[in-house]
Amino acid sequence: MKIKTDFLIIGSGISGLSLALKLSKLLPDEKLLLITKESLHQSSTYYAQGGIACVSNSSDNFEKHIKDTLIAGDGLCNENIVRKIITQAPERLDELIDLGVEFSRNDDGEYDLGQEGGHSERRILRVNDQTGQSIETTLIDNVKKLNNIEIKEKWCGVNLYVKDLKCYGAYVLDQESEEIHNIAAKSTILASGGAGKIYLYTTNPDVVSGDGIAMAYRAGAMISNMEFYQFHPTCLYHPYAKSFLITEAMRGEGAILKDIRGNEFMENYHPRKDLAPRDIVSRAIDAELKKSGDDYVYLDIASFKDSNFIKSHFPGIYEKCLEFNIDITKESIPVVPAAHYCCGGVMAGIDGTTEIKNLYVIGEAACTDFHGANRLASNSLLEGLVSAYECATYLSEHASNLRTKEFPEWEVGNAVPSTEAVVITQNWDEIRMLMQNFVGIVKSDTRLKRALKRMNIFSEEIDYYYWNYKVDKNLVELRNLSMVAELLIRCALSRKESRGTHFNENHPKKLDLARNSYIKRPW
Ligand code: SIN
Repeated sequence: MKIKTDFLIIGSGISGLSLALKLSKLLPDEKLLLITKESLHQSSTYYAQGGIACVSNSSDNFEKHIKDTLIAGDGLCNENIVRKIITQAPERLDELIDLGVEFSRNDDGEYDLGQEGGHSERRILRVNDQTGQSIETTLIDNVKKLNNIEIKEKWCGVNLYVKDLKCYGAYVLDQESEEIHNIAAKSTILASGGAGKIYLYTTNPDVVSGDGIAMAYRAGAMISNMEFYQFHPTCLYHPYAKSFLITEAMRGEGAILKDIRGNEFMENYHPRKDLAPRDIVSRAIDAELKKSGDDYVYLDIASFKDSNFIKSHFPGIYEKCLEFNIDITKESIPVVPAAHYCCGGVMAGIDGTTEIKNLYVIGEAACTDFHGANRLASNSLLEGLVSAYECATYLSEHASNLRTKEFPEWEVGNAVPSTEAVVITQNWDEIRMLMQNFVGIVKSDTRLKRALKRMNIFSEEIDYYYWNYKVDKNLVELRNLSMVAELLIRCALSRKESRGTHFNENHPKKLDLARNSYIKRPW
């Protein structure tokens, strides 16, 4: 089917939904189409526990938040961008509150601010340990009230249509009809999140397969800093618990990491101990596990806080762990580090502008130089909010008088339905295992080179599949995931130093000159 709209938004996390809301108000006579791969709430935002960092008490100030962000970013943040985002946080948060998000307050009626690693002050606004869920559902409720936003669930972006560095829209797979629609738009905005599913262990939901980054790369956009994949130190370790995060806020409230024999170890790694920046905590856990051969470490809150405190501050984690017979008010939680956040992505301005005209990228899929080499905890929902606001403002000023232009329909050619889904699952599993073991928390030149060789073989097989079989969601995801994995490995190989979340044991030192890595499709 051929579809014409004014603005095509791909993705339904905090960035995509906030953009839709703002744009719909700024341009009430224009049509917006928001598509999402599964149901609307299936995004990393929904699963975010910690909250949003924002200066909001009298002992804190913008300079402190900026300094903490720059320190975590390890020389690769753009200070102007950092300043721009952090100083407008209070305004963006007020808008979220006006939409209906109720951040937790203490008995005095003040915001009950959380503390997380790398922050010198308590500044995390949260809704207990379900901040993302609360924000996501509030945004969805508001978006659904607006009649110039059309929403399509189970629609999955396949490719952008870009010619002479101008984007005309996208080919999109409608998973129910199995048809590929041709959606022409004045502007296409990728708000499609990160790529956690390239790793075997991730805190991200299943939908997070790097689709936007891969689509933009194939279309000719510049990709930057992919080697900086952030691992969250504490993901629940249990054979049946898929991707369940244990928020850093728990360490902020005094929880301590211990090995399975009960020995604390963080004091051997950093003066801030359990509240060191998360790359340091993740590497410390990795080192302890490698040394001991254990499968996990423990996070102990039960010894430090009473049951009521734990249940009221961490109700989501308490309930979830009980499902696995772990009572966190009485016993320690088994945890491992897991892939959590893509600090790199498509090179974009804070307003989403890219090198490709009419293509915008916001949120985790973008690399705006806000996070640098390592994102400070709870800065990502903030970036999503601010970049959605900036992008909507930019689009309303620059894009409304453009014209939507048609482009050729998708050619099915001789493609036939796949008869061997097992090839997809096999490749998928192998890539994720390869990334976990060879391109994980600690990298080496040898492992990276081996990983790249194997990825070349996977890419050939996947390409064959893509050109000869009918495209379905699994194939789209696998193709994107393998592309993003390859980009990450190539960025990692180009960096001859260790910095932020990127640690290569063959180049353990940081170079004097801080630079981004860039990668662009050769034509
Ligand atoms: C957490 O709750 O620990 C995650 C917060 C974040 O990743 O920003």
